[in-house]
Formats: sequence, C-alpha cells, structure tokens
Amino acid sequence: MAFLFNSDAARGAIFRKAFACELPDLEFYHCSENFDPEKVRYLLTWSAPDDLSRFCNLELLFSIGAGVDQFKPETIPGHVKLVRMVEDGIVRMMQEYVVLGVLTLHREMVAYREQQSRGVWQALATSQATDRRIGFLGLGMLAQAAIDRLKPFRFSLATWSRSKKVVEGVACFHGDDQLGDFLRGTDILVCLLPLTEQTSGILNARLFSLLPAGARLLHVGRGPQLDQGALIEALDSGHLAAAMLDVTDPEPLPESHPLWSHPKVIITPHIASVTQPHSAAQAVIENIRLHRAGQNPIGLVDRALGY
Ligand code: GLV
Repeated sequence: MAFLFNSDAARGAIFRKAFACELPDLEFYHCSENFDPEKVRYLLTWSAPDDLSRFCNLELLFSIGAGVDQFKPETIPGHVKLVRMVEDGIVRMMQEYVVLGVLTLHREMVAYREQQSRGVWQALATSQATDRRIGFLGLGMLAQAAIDRLKPFRFSLATWSRSKKVVEGVACFHGDDQLGDFLRGTDILVCLLPLTEQTSGILNARLFSLLPAGARLLHVGRGPQLDQGALIEALDSGHLAAAMLDVTDPEPLPESHPLWSHPKVIITPHIASVTQPHSAAQAVIENIRLHRAGQNPIGLVDRALGY
C-alpha cells in the first residue's frame, strides 16, 4: 500500500519525514522515484496525471491546494474520493491576506500609492470601520476564518452563499434572490468563491452595477470569476474606487495588459495563501487515518457541487 507525492521535491521531503513517523506501514514515493502504480492508494498532486487510470487501486486523490477546479472531474473514477487541502497554514495565510486587503481598501492605500507616484501629500476622507460594510461572496472555511479576524475591527459584516448559513454577528444572505440585496449593502466585496460553472464570470458588469458607488473589490477566488474588462470600465467610470486582485486570468497577465498599470488596482501574484508543508502533511496523515477508520476525510469534495 503506497502514498504518492506528485509535487516538488522540497515539500515532498517534509511529507516523507512526517509519514515515516506517523504512518510507517505506508510506502512513500516521490513522483521522481520508481514505484508500482497498482500499490498507490493515496495520491497528492496539483492536477491529475494524464495516466490516472494506471492507479487502479486509488482511493483518495488529494489536491495540494485549497481549490479543486484544476481537476477534470470526468477523468476521475467515481469511487475515488477527491479531497481539498484543509490545513492550518492555508487558513492563517488567508486570514492575513484578507485583513491586509480589506484594510488596504478601507484606508485608501490604493489612492495613496497613486498620490505618492505623483509626489502628492494629501489626506483623503475615510470612513470609520463601523460604517464600512464588508461583504463576502462565498462562506466556506476560509471566509469564515477571515471573518473571525475582521470582527475586532468592528466592520459591518455580511456574507452571501449558495445555500443558507448562519454566522454569529454576520448578516447572512443566500441564493440568487438575495444576491442583489447583499450587493447593495456592500462597500468592500471580498470574493472567496470556489470556481465552478455557476461562479465563472460572476464578477461582471451587472454585479458591479449593484454595488454602491465607491465600492471596492478584493478578489481572492479564481481568475475566471472576474470579467476583467468590466472591472476596468467600472473603475474608469468612477463607480468602483479600487480593486486588489490576487488572481487573474491568465496568470500572469500579458505584459501589456491594462490592469498591470491601472492606478486603482493592486495585483499580487496568487500568493494570498500557500500550502505549508509541515501542517499540510499532518492534515493529510489525519485524513488517511479517518479514511482507514471508515470516515470521510476533512475537505471531501462534493463531486456534484464541484467544491
Ligand atoms: C491556491 O489557490 C490553492 O488552491 O491553494
């Protein structure tokens, strides 16, 4: 019975050490080594290898990232459980980035950066946190963790999710019918949705038009969720005040893309949250233990929903 690590060797070495201590009965292979594919019960990878059918005894397919949109579900046999990466390192980094992004947009840092480029020393009017409404599109584990970190600032917090959810101290909206009301009450929109057929292109001109004038966007979902042309139009018309994007489509954007140099946009290169090998190894080990005990792993993907 074997575990196959199909990613970079440096992180693989950290996983190997943890597995040797915690699951010594399981053979461990890095993808660069010789192994018998029939022995592989557990595979950790970013995307599914083309020859997935070789792994005829595969039981768990672990994504090395929090997202699973890079997999083509039709290529993964129905009995194989697909598992998102749920680990403390990803959660902590996302909390940091969302707080950074919300405060950046709240305290006018995008406009100050532009003023600095012109040598302008000029205070801008700013709202108090209690008057600033932060709205999260998507209410998975990462959004909930980020919301916990934002609460002490006393922002007004709201969320929108596909199905009904309840979070203490947060106005929770759900379903298509409530999206408009949610958007009309959002000053800083944080997108933390998974990429699915339903969420592809969701950040579009219509959605922006429902936000109040002067709203801002923090995008930490996936690039294809954003209509980049519509964002530029909304910024140039003055309807949106600023945007901070950690994801784009494609990644990176072509050198000449107008978003690179847009004065109202900050771009970071998909670094909001990165799987941390020590904590990720423990999370994967724990999931293998759960699976062996006949329980579902944490982060099990609902193949019908796509997340
Ligand atoms: C990064 O975007 C991830 O999926 O972990």
